[in-house]
Amino acid sequence: MAESVTKAVIPAAGYGTRMLPFTKAVPKELIPLVDTPVLQYVAEEAAAAGVREMLFVISEGKEAIVEHFRSDPELERKLLQCRKEELLAGIRKINDQAEISFVFQKQLNGLGGAVALAEDFVGDDPFLVLLGDTVIDSADGCSASRELIEVYDRFHAPVIALTPVAAEKISSYGIAGGREAAEKILLLDNIVEKPSPGNAPGNLAVTARYLLTPEIFRMLKTTSPGVNNEIQLTDAIRQLMGFQKVYGCCISGQRYDLGTCSGFVAANVEFALRRPELRETLGKKLVNILKEKNIIEK
Ligand code: G1P
Repeated sequence: MAESVTKAVIPAAGYGTRMLPFTKAVPKELIPLVDTPVLQYVAEEAAAAGVREMLFVISEGKEAIVEHFRSDPELERKLLQCRKEELLAGIRKINDQAEISFVFQKQLNGLGGAVALAEDFVGDDPFLVLLGDTVIDSADGCSASRELIEVYDRFHAPVIALTPVAAEKISSYGIAGGREAAEKILLLDNIVEKPSPGNAPGNLAVTARYLLTPEIFRMLKTTSPGVNNEIQLTDAIRQLMGFQKVYGCCISGQRYDLGTCSGFVAANVEFALRRPELRETLGKKLVNILKEKNIIEK
């Protein structure tokens, strides 16, 4: 069966102030999880879900992202000569699976502004939006992107990934509300960017993955700057609700917050412990460190 969604837009343009000084010269999307940059996990999630064309929205100073995805025949030749086939397959994988292109967001006017730049790329097709700084672990091998595509195939309408958040986190996210349309699926009736808890339509946070249709571009053309004086994708989606159905999908994967120091280190430890070649030695080292620091009993 032909895949219904084969295009993805991956915004990777904003500043990474929460991880300064590291992000002064290196884009936050290239922060590593063990030995792989976050953005590569994101691109691999899209490719595994059937995406064959990806557009990265980047900004000045983020040229390292282009370098990361550019094919490098010289490096590939060297890896082949040294018989490092596994490393070679790792760096070639995405380029073999998808056509990658880039667009520069010259004016950093928000996520809505970034997505608006994808109009020509998208044409008449449905498309995924995956925020380039967020890894969502797939539960049972079914990624957030796959889950959204399943909802789209069923309802033929835009769908937003949602996860519940604690009350004190509500003002950090876009928050959506609606009524249950099916198990884990809501027909949305409101969505608000970073509301105060009193103004939030619930506790379900927009979670870095969207499946949209080209109608969003018409909305974005008339979306005024909102929170932080930026064009918010959330506001364009709320406008869209006036014209067509928009769904929310409570995804089953876990979102990793790599924008805080503790989140970043914990995710690295967790991902490293999943590697059979690191599990035992790293596990023992960690236990020793925790004992030495009197965090667990000797
Ligand atoms: C963006 C979106 C917000 C969403 C969040 C996490 O906010 O504007 O609606 O909840 O990503 O996916 P940001 O984290 O860029 O402030």
